Amino acid sequence: MPSIYIETYGCQMNVADTELLLGHLGQHGYRRAGSPADADVILLNTCAIREHAEDRVFGRLGELARHKVRHPAVQLGIAGCMAQHVRERLLEKIPFVDFVVGPDEYRHLPEVLGSAIGDPLVAVQLDRTETYADIVPQRERGVRAWVTVMRGCDKFCTFCIVPYVRGRERSLPADAVLEQVRMLAADSYREVVYLGQTVNAYRSGTVDFAALLRQTQAIDGIERIRFTSPHPIDMTESLIAVMASCSKVCPQLHLPLQSGSDRMLAKMERGHTVAEYRSLVDRLRRAIPGIALTTDIIVGFPGEEEADFAATCALVREIGYDSAFMFKYSARSGTKAAKWPETVAEEEKGRRLQAIIAVQEAQSAAINRALIGSTTAVLIEGPARRRDGWHAGKSPQFKTVVFPANGTRIGDLVQARITGATAHTLIAEVEESKSSRFEQFKS
Ligand code: SAH
Ligand code: SF4
Ligand code: F3S
Repeated sequence: MPSIYIETYGCQMNVADTELLLGHLGQHGYRRAGSPADADVILLNTCAIREHAEDRVFGRLGELARHKVRHPAVQLGIAGCMAQHVRERLLEKIPFVDFVVGPDEYRHLPEVLGSAIGDPLVAVQLDRTETYADIVPQRERGVRAWVTVMRGCDKFCTFCIVPYVRGRERSLPADAVLEQVRMLAADSYREVVYLGQTVNAYRSGTVDFAALLRQTQAIDGIERIRFTSPHPIDMTESLIAVMASCSKVCPQLHLPLQSGSDRMLAKMERGHTVAEYRSLVDRLRRAIPGIALTTDIIVGFPGEEEADFAATCALVREIGYDSAFMFKYSARSGTKAAKWPETVAEEEKGRRLQAIIAVQEAQSAAINRALIGSTTAVLIEGPARRRDGWHAGKSPQFKTVVFPANGTRIGDLVQARITGATAHTLIAEVEESKSSRFEQFKS
């Protein structure tokens, strides 16, 4: 049996695609290898979102080139968004790569592997309809399963490479999604996270994203439902109502802001203003008390002046995000913004990034500290990373909670009292085990 080793870069959708690739190749006689040294095929599933992401892959390819010199029979391939972005240039730059396969060509990977020997192969057609709805992913065992419900993006924010590398927006049939979730419940998963670049733009026939969540709520065995990333302009009133009324849909939302300046939002073509975003946050907080909000911020976008940046910092303070991913703008060839002159020097981008990180870190720490003394439900996921004999899990708000294991088991839903907090972790003690409500998690 040939074996494949896949290394994954980028977002959760790429992680889910790796599981899809493993499932598909598993059907075609491949087994998963634990390391490059044990593999007949080495595949990097790559990301193109910022230059740094691509640099990391080029660096890794350099290391794998040495492996390939010693083991010439090994096939080395590149999948994912960077494969789509850089295409032929990858083969010019890195002649020892055997194949390049874009996100809509994974169905053909078995044939690509069969024919790429000796002759490098590039398969990078985008496809308006491919959803891989019929392929069963080979998932990591655990409490949480990631389920891709839509692929691609039609928003074309001026900074973003995703629509060019992932193609047009398309959704999986609702029946296929719900059937997958029923199988996951039968397989002891307790939580599903629906994935898509603009996940709330999901639509299959008459089923929109709100209806999909409502139908998922009815599936026995699944205790928690989350989704990422929603786009602010697709947060409909019916979706907010479903989030408020469906007990399994967690009070948590990753709501990318990008900038707190109307001038920048317009240049980014995000499709909303600061006032509209603020009103959305108000409606969410009224409908879903205790909802945790997180966001993405870009600093140093072309034309961003000190006043625009100050507006972003002010809005980040005002909204009070539980946490945020913050990035320096990185020009991506092929996008609209890449044609505009960069006006913020690299050094100044770095300064703005550090400044906004400091604002957010202080805020995250304060929000978490305020939780000390309260109790929260925790779905236990596994051993805590840094403390022996401790367990870790997530609160409904998707905060990491760690506590002494004390006989609790993975897959248990427990009530925990929060005794300490950092910006990124809640420290707790289990109050009451409700594990009897659940069958024991099968590992
Ligand atoms: N689909 C999601 C975002 C996916 S990309 C959404 O629209 O909300 C994740 C984040 O990467 C984006 O929210 C943005 O903050 C950041 N990002 C995307 N392109 C970037 C670029 N060219 N430079 C810096 N950050 C970027
Ligand atoms: Fe990129 Fe905008 Fe689409 Fe998000 S919505 S993936 S930022 S183009
Ligand atoms: Fe990167 Fe592609 Fe995700 S560009 S962020 S891996 S969709």
